[in-house]
Amino acid sequence: MDLIANPLSEALGAEIIGGDFSKKLNDHHKKFLYDCFLKYHLLCLRSNKLSPKELYNLATTFGTPFTEVTRNQWDREVPEISILNSTYLKLNDKPKNPKLNRRNGWHTDHSFKIDPPKATILHAHEIPSHGGHTRFCNTNKAYQDLPANKKKFFNSLNAVHCYDTERAPARPVKRTASEIKETPDVIHPLILKHDETNIKSIYFNANRTDRIVGYEKKESNQILDEIDNHITQNKYRYDHKWNIGDIIIWDNRCLIHSVNVDYPIKEPRIHLRTLIKENNI
Ligand SMILES: [Fe+2]
Repeated sequence: MDLIANPLSEALGAEIIGGDFSKKLNDHHKKFLYDCFLKYHLLCLRSNKLSPKELYNLATTFGTPFTEVTRNQWDREVPEISILNSTYLKLNDKPKNPKLNRRNGWHTDHSFKIDPPKATILHAHEIPSHGGHTRFCNTNKAYQDLPANKKKFFNSLNAVHCYDTERAPARPVKRTASEIKETPDVIHPLILKHDETNIKSIYFNANRTDRIVGYEKKESNQILDEIDNHITQNKYRYDHKWNIGDIIIWDNRCLIHSVNVDYPIKEPRIHLRTLIKENNI
């Protein structure tokens, strides 16, 4: 088996062809995939559909998969794999205004946690005939393009990430008081240094980043709006049009993502997902 990496865009990502990912990978292939993951920040493994167990085995190439908070989506035999069914079953399920849908917002996964997952894996089992792309922006490239004085300023800032923020265009699902207690606000540096490659990226989540520490709301919002506009420019962006079987692995430390929520009603859209934690956690 010979794995080949082909870049997917100027901004980020590579597809990997030539693999059978239902089988155990040897150390050479594992190293190739991991090196490509760090280099391109996103990999799309072209594959057939994998079972939850097969996807779990593959996911261990990138670190330790862990269970998500929402138990009702867990696979019955492999709880580290969640089954995400985003099919619109009826007309009212589809958002009238995509901008007011949480999945449409640009985010990095679980930044409300002190130790967010380093990577996320999504595997397409069913996809609609059109729409429903997952979109990515490279916040490392966006950082690199900043003028030196901005880099210096942003490097001095920390940001508060909350489970919900009034800055987000849409609210998350309602939670109980005890669930809310489980997610206290956390602080992350605005510029995140990658713990494996040392590259720097802008760490911002439109759904969760509430404010800059030590700044009045108005000034803080100006800074965050400037960042939001900068990192979501088309030159940093890659939109992934799914094929059934695609396995996408992306690095949450240097990419943000969002979903194109405009796709047909009653056409199945089902993904398997798992999150990967830092090796040292
Ligand atoms: Fe996400």
